[in-house]
Amino acid sequence: MSQTEAADLKSQDIDSSEAPVPGSVSDSKISDLIADDMSAVNQNIQQAIQSDVVLINQMGHYIIGAGGKRLRPKLVLLSALAQGYQGSQHTKIAAVIEFIHTATLLHDDVVDSSGLRRGRETANNVWGNEAAVLVGDFLYSRSFEMMVEVGQMRVMEILSSATNTIAAGEVMQLMNIGEAEVSVERYMNVIEAKTAKLFEAATQLGAVLAGADESTEQLMARFGSRLGLAFQLIDDALDYTAKSDDLGKNAGDDLAEGKPTLPLIYAMQTVGGDQAGLIGQALATAQKQGFLPDDQLQPIVDVVCQSGAIEHTIALAQQQVNLAVRDLQCLSPGVYKDALASIAQASVNRRF
Ligand code: IPE
Ligand code: IPE
Ligand code: MG
Ligand code: MG
Repeated sequence: MSQTEAADLKSQDIDSSEAPVPGSVSDSKISDLIADDMSAVNQNIQQAIQSDVVLINQMGHYIIGAGGKRLRPKLVLLSALAQGYQGSQHTKIAAVIEFIHTATLLHDDVVDSSGLRRGRETANNVWGNEAAVLVGDFLYSRSFEMMVEVGQMRVMEILSSATNTIAAGEVMQLMNIGEAEVSVERYMNVIEAKTAKLFEAATQLGAVLAGADESTEQLMARFGSRLGLAFQLIDDALDYTAKSDDLGKNAGDDLAEGKPTLPLIYAMQTVGGDQAGLIGQALATAQKQGFLPDDQLQPIVDVVCQSGAIEHTIALAQQQVNLAVRDLQCLSPGVYKDALASIAQASVNRRF
């Protein structure tokens, strides 16, 4: 992301009115629309997770069986179908994308020392960090075997480069831990890499499979990327405002581990004086000790929530979604296009 783009995002003058979603499609209607394809995706996932190694089977079923929203595979399917795709490779690519996502979650929970994921104790808590990292590697490498089976060089290019960018994003984020001086630009670069890139690959691949022209492919890629940015912005807001039970993961973890996300960065830049100093100290403590004790966490959460940071973060997410929905102009009108726009809007309105 360029400096100008980041500066735009920082500007107070954000149009955060909801995107005009032409024909809003409910979650249940979307599930009905792609029910058969999603069951093929789930079959592909179940098949690919099998291994002769007991621990891989156990951990694979544990994390995959816990569910998750399956948002990225849905995007692959809808993007392909919106462009008239008639084959069955989209269900395979959707499974690959969910595999890559799941591998990143296994690794991410180790790095973030997280204890709860999809409503269950994290794999690293149950089996230890070593096992979680290695099974994450297994899922990554299995996803590469699956993408080779698709047999299209362009598909492999997009997925391998997305995977590489995600890894770089997580490393960039690690370098920001405990840093009070992280700029909005640096934060946006991290979330663009660690999260938006896989959304981008998902919607771009729908276009590639459907044989779309270059400009449609690029617009669909940008749609996914913008949706992914919005998704992570909301994830970062929810980390301050939601309940762990609703999220299925522990709220407050970002601050507890010293991760400067937009709500914290915004608060630090706006509250000034003593309160900014308090946030800086909390970040330093979190970095030094590896976590922030509960009694030091709540006062900072209060400062962040009272600073307007949450509203600001949600407004930025809405702005990204509005831009994303505009990119869908490349698609012909229809229920799949409406479903994509509805998913984009729902990513801002979500509570978990
Ligand atoms: C979690 O993604 C990681 C982020 C990018 C915030 P999801 O919220 O899509 O996780 P699941 O798959 O539904 O559990
Ligand atoms: C997203 O960031 C992680 C990945 C893209 C792998 P978070 O660290 O915020 O995700 P959660 O909150 O643990 O799901
Ligand atoms: Mg995490
Ligand atoms: Mg998070």
